[in-house]
Amino acid sequence: MEFKLAPSILSADFGNLERDITMLNNSEADWIHVDVMDGVFVPNISFGFPVMKMLEKTARKELDVHVMITNPDQYIEEFAAHATSTLTIHYEACTHLHRTLSEIKKNGMKAGVALNPHTPVSVLEDSLYLADMVLIMSVNPGFGGQKFIENTYSKIERLKNLIIQKNANTLIEVDGGVNLDNARKLIDSGADALVAGNAVFATTNPTDTIHKFKSI
Ligand code: DX5
Ligand code: ZN
Repeated sequence: MEFKLAPSILSADFGNLERDITMLNNSEADWIHVDVMDGVFVPNISFGFPVMKMLEKTARKELDVHVMITNPDQYIEEFAAHATSTLTIHYEACTHLHRTLSEIKKNGMKAGVALNPHTPVSVLEDSLYLADMVLIMSVNPGFGGQKFIENTYSKIERLKNLIIQKNANTLIEVDGGVNLDNARKLIDSGADALVAGNAVFATTNPTDTIHKFKSI
């Protein structure tokens, strides 16, 4: 089955970021996953708009931006101005999810909503029609290279059923601990897009690893 692969640049070499982005541009990767963390919503700080500006100039693939920040509404316009294709905010960070997803779409981006491992898919029953994508976190957000949470497979299935039941047109993305060993089962469970950080960048030949993922 066709699926989207989104390597996460959180695991890239920031001393050679342009080289790593060029590698992704020339690879079979579909999207570039961009993790923005504020040190408040998650216990880590990654990067912000200076890196977005660099990506805007260098990246030739769709930017799949995952914001782990407490006040995403404040930055929607700025992400739209820096070539963001899909802006995924966290359910847990939004008091007014309907408004936030609507604003993202109004600014010309696809709207994604991410669920932490403890958040059930049922909370999206009344918002799925607004979400172009749901990102299921398969680790607690904040860091690359963590261990995959096994409950994710059944969570994907529950979300897939909800999408069918609601007749929604929503993609399912899985993020955290994805590797060449669990990718097949994730796709079979209903995932449409996989994020991979460490599983791509910690290998000696990331281009070849991306090819292996896409050949699954
Ligand atoms: C974690 C981030 C992920 C991270 C995934 O909070 O949202 O996108 O980069 O890294 P791996 O694939 O190494 O678990
Ligand atoms: Zn992410």
